Amino acid sequence: MKKKLILGIESSCDETAAAVVQAGSQDSGVVFNVLSSVVFSQIDIHKKYGGVIPELAARNHILKILPVVNEAFIKAGVTEKNIEKIAVTCGPGLMTSLMVGVETAKALAYVWQKPLYGIDHIRGHIYTAWLGNGNDPVITKKDFPILALIVSGGHTELVLLKNETDFVVIGKTIDDAAGEAFDKTAKILDLGYPGGPEISKLALLGNEEIIKFPRPLLHAKNYNFSFSGLKTAVLYKVRDMVKTKNKLSKKQKSDICASFQAAVVDVLVQKTVRAALFNKCTKVILGGGVAANKKLREVLNTKLKEENIELIVPDFQLCTDNAVMIAVSSYFEKKPTGWEKASVNPGLSI
Ligand code: KG4
Ligand code: ZN
Repeated sequence: MKKKLILGIESSCDETAAAVVQAGSQDSGVVFNVLSSVVFSQIDIHKKYGGVIPELAARNHILKILPVVNEAFIKAGVTEKNIEKIAVTCGPGLMTSLMVGVETAKALAYVWQKPLYGIDHIRGHIYTAWLGNGNDPVITKKDFPILALIVSGGHTELVLLKNETDFVVIGKTIDDAAGEAFDKTAKILDLGYPGGPEISKLALLGNEEIIKFPRPLLHAKNYNFSFSGLKTAVLYKVRDMVKTKNKLSKKQKSDICASFQAAVVDVLVQKTVRAALFNKCTKVILGGGVAANKKLREVLNTKLKEENIELIVPDFQLCTDNAVMIAVSSYFEKKPTGWEKASVNPGLSI
């Protein structure tokens, strides 16, 4: 089996990350081994502002990016001499954050004379599904077509994978992303940033039957999503509730969180199952930060099982942004971008 070492670098939002991944191809597919994965999260820096401040994010990426790359090498027990290529996130994401990762990777590729691959962040989230725990490939050629639901702070996309590299977006949000809806709802409820983990924690204590929030675009004859109205529905509900009582109790907040989460999960799950059945998929990939949501993982798994469809979902730490997914993604790129051409691309390039 031929084995290759890849250095991955990710800086698209508020995580500075680097990873060393080993890729080994065999007849049935490819197996990836994570030698190291280092993530410096800036959450504590942005928390007090209730969201990511782009200027601050870029400045902190600059401070952290080389120490994080260095740590990834030390943890993997390798040096730059051992790696075959470098992969870096080119977009989508925050322009100034992306620039730090891209320019660093370009300089390293130039100095070390390594091929450089510019990677789409959403493709990266999709490719986390190729990471298994054993010696057998998780995904093989016979598994296609596969459907992927990518839900993050900036994206909500249903992507049809025709084969290992040919991906088509068949549905997306027309306004807020699912993670954005979690973050904005958390802000309305004064729960802090990022909102997803806080809402899911509080939802465990609440009753999702108490408030019937809307299920936007559930019955639309397409695979698009819309979450902005849902967030507004929460805002109006909170306004009504505080009219009768000055402050919301923990129980009231918990019920809102549970009901809001149920509405998001309901729409995501129903549309994903429908798209998987229509496209005759036997496997569905779930990825992106919101894939860390336990309720979403459970309900999607149950509903897909009823249709004999398998759910592939990464470990929790690989759902949120990391550089492992960027390294894995580069394995499937036919040609390097090259340090001369690599540049930031804030849009989606699936
Ligand atoms: O993929 P990611 O780390 O960054 C982007 O590419 O945007 O996703 C971050 C998003 C945030 O909106 C965060 O609130 C959400 O993922 N998130 C969650 C959970 N953990 C993180 N949303 C719901 N439930 C969670 N447990
Ligand atoms: Zn992401």
